[in-house]
Amino acid sequence: MEKRDSFASSFGVLVAMAGSAVGLGNLWRFPYLVGTNGGAAFIIIYLAIIAVLALPIMYSEFVVGRRAQSNVYGAFKKLAPGTKWGITGLLAILCCILIVSFYSVVGGWTIDYMLKAIGGEFSSQSTAFDGLFAQTVSSNYRPLVFMLLFVGSSAAVLLAGVKDGIEKYSKVLMPLLFLMVIVIAVRSVTLPGASSGIDFLFKPDFSKVTANTFLDALGQAFFSLSVGFGIIFTYASYVNRNENLVSMSVQTSCADTLFAIIAGVAIMPAVFAFGIEPAQGPGLVFVTLPYVFAQLPLGSVMAAIFFFVLYVAALTSAISLLEVAVAYVIEEFKISRRASVLAVTTLVIVLGVFCSLSQGVLGDVKILGNNIFDLFDKTTANILIPIGALLIVLFAGWKMKKEDFIDEITSGGKHKINPLYLKIIIISVKYVAPIVIGVIMIRSLI
Ligand code: PHE
Repeated sequence: MEKRDSFASSFGVLVAMAGSAVGLGNLWRFPYLVGTNGGAAFIIIYLAIIAVLALPIMYSEFVVGRRAQSNVYGAFKKLAPGTKWGITGLLAILCCILIVSFYSVVGGWTIDYMLKAIGGEFSSQSTAFDGLFAQTVSSNYRPLVFMLLFVGSSAAVLLAGVKDGIEKYSKVLMPLLFLMVIVIAVRSVTLPGASSGIDFLFKPDFSKVTANTFLDALGQAFFSLSVGFGIIFTYASYVNRNENLVSMSVQTSCADTLFAIIAGVAIMPAVFAFGIEPAQGPGLVFVTLPYVFAQLPLGSVMAAIFFFVLYVAALTSAISLLEVAVAYVIEEFKISRRASVLAVTTLVIVLGVFCSLSQGVLGDVKILGNNIFDLFDKTTANILIPIGALLIVLFAGWKMKKEDFIDEITSGGKHKINPLYLKIIIISVKYVAPIVIGVIMIRSLI
């Protein structure tokens, strides 16, 4: 078997983790959630949730993954031999495969829109962008070609491995991503009338805060930081024993949140400047924003940059999702990385074809009332992610010995942690996180 690959530098780990975290969620969901949930009030709640909940779960994934130095399934076999804990790993792999199947379809749309932008399709104010979007996603072959391109570009990075692939490309792509989103943000805030967008995002309004606000913030924090999928777990297994897990997790969370806030500043002021209603999800980026670009001087250039940002953000996330399965196949089936990447991406492409066609010809195929695309989306978001996160914290909090947890999180005593903070982490991992995840699950099921 090939020697186990690893990250070469701390910066490499950070950009790879941030690459996974920064994705479509930061661009098309966070800004809207903030704006409709009390602006700065929401941001404060979001940060608090990261500190007391998301970070401890992230530490748990980091601790278990790095200690085992193995894929997400093999790790449990190694750390808890003879038990059924391996199922946790299999669930995480299934979850990643399902997510990346529909994520790649969206990734394909971003490439399509980038090319449309370069071709000047967003320069006419008379285009009906809703119709253009509906037509783009429902066609039979075009989205398939772009999905294939998207998965192909992810596969190209994965084939090169962890150090020479994921790390090397993230080092270039992530700084570029930040730079480009800052360029768009500067353009956006300098538009006349931009200030109402800034108010929408930042003006604190505690009267909008309800119980749902907390649950929304929680769901967003988990999805955005990619916790509970086995991703941090898998990347952690390539991290050197000397690295400081706590500071790495904190840096990743800061980078992700900072990016989400800059994305808000890039999007909302421009939307408000042209008097358009804000939205979220695909509707925001593929319909609302094209209306903005069409009215903007140099709108085509801005559109091309924006869809490139979207593509890169989705690409680095897809790479992390795929790597969870790729690592599993390499290590458990003892085959080469090349063969594993081929097998995993082939499966994802097949599933992706169904997801894509469910926006068009297969739209009437409904399973439990959802088309295939929505079925994958909902099963992962409402069931698999919370279960995965729950099992991982239960493992770290209850199955793993406390001394081992502390030994790993401090790198064998090398990185000291404030004793009070350590206590908080342990209480959160053992009690708070499992209870809260349980509540989210029940809420999303009913
Ligand atoms: N964190 C990514 C985002 O904010 C999404 C993602 C989910 C990436 C799961 C990888 C795994 O969009």
